[in-house]
Amino acid sequence: MDIREVISKKREDKELTKNEIDYFVREYTNGNIPDYQAAALIMAICIRGMTAEEIKNLTLAMAESGEKLNLSAIGNKVVDKHSTGGVGDKITIVLMPIIAALGIPVAKMSGRGLGFTGGTVDKLESIPGYKTNIPVEEFIENVNNVGISLIGQTANIAPADKKIYALRDAINCTKSIPLIASSIMSKKIALGANKLVLDITVGSGAFMKTKQEATNLAKCMKKLGELAEIETVCVLTNMNEPVGYNIGNTLEIIEAVECLKNNMPDDVREIVYNLGAQMIKLAGRGDDINQNILMIEETLQSGKAYQKFLELVTNQGGDISYLGDTQKLGKAKYVIPVLASEDGIIEHIDAEMCGSISVYVGAGRVKKEDKIDSLAGIVLNKKSGDTVKVGEPLAYVHTNDETKAKGAVENLKNAFKITNKKVKKQNIILGIIK
Ligand code: URA
Repeated sequence: MDIREVISKKREDKELTKNEIDYFVREYTNGNIPDYQAAALIMAICIRGMTAEEIKNLTLAMAESGEKLNLSAIGNKVVDKHSTGGVGDKITIVLMPIIAALGIPVAKMSGRGLGFTGGTVDKLESIPGYKTNIPVEEFIENVNNVGISLIGQTANIAPADKKIYALRDAINCTKSIPLIASSIMSKKIALGANKLVLDITVGSGAFMKTKQEATNLAKCMKKLGELAEIETVCVLTNMNEPVGYNIGNTLEIIEAVECLKNNMPDDVREIVYNLGAQMIKLAGRGDDINQNILMIEETLQSGKAYQKFLELVTNQGGDISYLGDTQKLGKAKYVIPVLASEDGIIEHIDAEMCGSISVYVGAGRVKKEDKIDSLAGIVLNKKSGDTVKVGEPLAYVHTNDETKAKGAVENLKNAFKITNKKVKKQNIILGIIK
């Protein structure tokens, strides 16, 4: 087979056969197809899309590209969670210790930053010593020992996704239903998850900008779930503005620690409670969503969720003294306020702009091999609905790169829309697809 013919076929909007998809996934994973040819095909898929049959074949080929686990060895009620990506999205880091504290095993493989969205693995790696890259055996052992393990994509589980994911990030092919669905579901199939809650983000800080697009993505992933016998619930969540206040790796760890101590911004709380309640239900621990939310509240109030997080970090080699005193994690050299130039009420904060600026000042990658600056990012001082006076800080840019600081501050100001009219609170949970 000739990869150039496969590229031409997709460029001309023709359906790829199972053989062609298998060939691409196998040979790219093995290193026989170079990045530039893979990039051309991925770009063609991003522009042309894929049929349901192609998405199924791509997902299965990626799932089969490495080792496969069977998480039911840990228990038959292992519930996984995955987000389609967002800005300031630290939900996994807050939610998963809560779920583990309730005695539901958590074995989760997360990703790195993608496009303007952040990645859980980059965030966890900003905790000194925390190992995200551990062998599969240790991953399972950790779950058996402390009930939770959060890791990155090990070389052996869906390695095709690992390569394609990094490539998509570098060539701006992140917004694509076939590529997002196959990326997430191939990992879940390879891990052998049997229950899954998907956080399908919608809005400016998400890849799916409208509820209709998000619903299409949800349906596509649910179909893949059915095929692989993974019971899947999709929760559509509002990502029109960043989640919580902090954007960037260390900054989000600091906020997540506060959340686990039960000091949670309202939007984080609503997402954590709703996703968590669905996870508890899937785990067979309670059908009543309100009761499940009470269980979540109890783990937070009693300190059990925070304690579980400390156990997780210790078990993965992380130094929890940095969590006890988050100031030890450090601060970027330049912390510059973005000041309001008018009085009013914050109507909207453009999450995609916040995410892109955060990447620009060092929190994300522009090239595959870029190193991220774990201290870089943005701290919001205002959220929509808040009143603001001229000269008050709207946000702070954190960066170690002096040359980027000025432009970032100017641009970030444009992310804030200020009005003199009353601002209606937006719903955070936009729908549940079971
Ligand atoms: N998370 C993933 O694992 N893949 C995507 O494409 C988007 C979010």
